[in-house]
Amino acid sequence: MKNKLAVVILAAGKGTRMRSSTPKVLHELCGRPMLSFVTDLAHALKAEHTIAVLGHQHELVRKILAPQVKVAVQKDLNGTAGAVKAAMPFLKSFKGDVLILYGDVPLLKKESLTKLLAKHRKNSPDATLLTSNLEKPAGYGRILRDAYSSVSGIVEEKDANDYQKSIKEVNTGIALFRKDRLESALKSVRSANRKKEFYLTDTFGIIHKGGGIIDSVKLEDFNEALGINSRSQLAQADAIMRKRIVEEVMESGVTVVDPATTFIYWGSKIGRDTVIYPFTVIERNAKIGKRCFVGPFAHLRESVALGDDVIVGNFIEITRSKLGAKTIAKHFSYIGDSRLGRSVNIGAGTVTANFDGLNKHDTIVKDNAFIGSDTVLVSPVVVGRNASTAAGSVVVHRNVPDGTVFAGVPAKFLRRKK
Ligand code: UD1
Ligand code: CA
Repeated sequence: MKNKLAVVILAAGKGTRMRSSTPKVLHELCGRPMLSFVTDLAHALKAEHTIAVLGHQHELVRKILAPQVKVAVQKDLNGTAGAVKAAMPFLKSFKGDVLILYGDVPLLKKESLTKLLAKHRKNSPDATLLTSNLEKPAGYGRILRDAYSSVSGIVEEKDANDYQKSIKEVNTGIALFRKDRLESALKSVRSANRKKEFYLTDTFGIIHKGGGIIDSVKLEDFNEALGINSRSQLAQADAIMRKRIVEEVMESGVTVVDPATTFIYWGSKIGRDTVIYPFTVIERNAKIGKRCFVGPFAHLRESVALGDDVIVGNFIEITRSKLGAKTIAKHFSYIGDSRLGRSVNIGAGTVTANFDGLNKHDTIVKDNAFIGSDTVLVSPVVVGRNASTAAGSVVVHRNVPDGTVFAGVPAKFLRRKK
């Protein structure tokens, strides 16, 4: 029978090496806090309980957690064993396995955890550890093995001798424990190390010494194990996540001309046969229709929705806006807080002046309207169906009626269209 599963996510640390006033686990990968990728994993495994251990600025961190994630507050940030201990009161009546995830190890894939779970359930050891081989293992705990090559413990880099430092098999931090064995091992953890902290990693040596069995699974792709401690590792992880997102987008039928210079944040939806040209940034949760052309050098910021067959070209910035099907904005423009209908033509250099210094206002442009080059739409503005603005117009807080042409500074009625 399958044992029940509880997940404990360690995320209380300060993240000193980030040198930031933002808690480490809130730093973002592709526009999303790194911790959210970790809570996704717990969710995907359908864990009975998910407990996030928070400490440093916990009020801020808890805001991003889903309601089913319980929060344990670690008052004294005295190490990873202390963090797990802080979660144990939530598991008083729980019987089963406890999976430890690290809030700063966000690139891990569900499939790797499924493998870990499967091996643990098959062999029923006291603990199963996820390890990885690294060419440059610096900064990670090293895996110690006995004469039978069973895991006999973990030594942290700061406490390792030269031989131990040369070991390339490292601790990813991810491990699965039988709950009762974890609980009893935690009681024996001492802080006799360089950092004077209570290390969760000491539990493996304790279990081994007590005659327990520790199994292990090695990650095939060491990128998954990347722990983020510094800004440099954050950039490294961001690049890996970005590559994964672009791969997924291409897999779904989108042409990305140059994946290396295309930045698509987490959560965007892009329709088939859309083409994305180089140096394009598409921020979080964009919705882009089918057969669109985006870029080069396009910046789609928050809450952007493009209908099918839309073209947005060079040096355009769009934010909080909807563009209807077949609408075209090919050359340098700023479109903010706007709703553009279908088949609208936005001339080169068009700008929505949506901010009056205090508030933001909306711009509405209806179907088939033609906005002449270099038009400034000082919002709130409504441009009616089939209406036009002449090149260089400045439309100030006006309603341009359907089928009319407005021109000038400030723009005035010029004529009715035929
Ligand atoms: C840890 C492991 C190391 C492993 C590496 C993998 C220990 C002692 N060391 O080292 O073997 O190779 O991760 O990335 O576990 N945390 C708390 N409370 C604390 C301290 C830390 O919740 O009191 C959390 C942090 O927020 C972080 C995680 O635990 O998410 C790991 O802590 P960190 O200080 O980054 O450990 P590493 O030095 O990276
Ligand atoms: Ca770490």
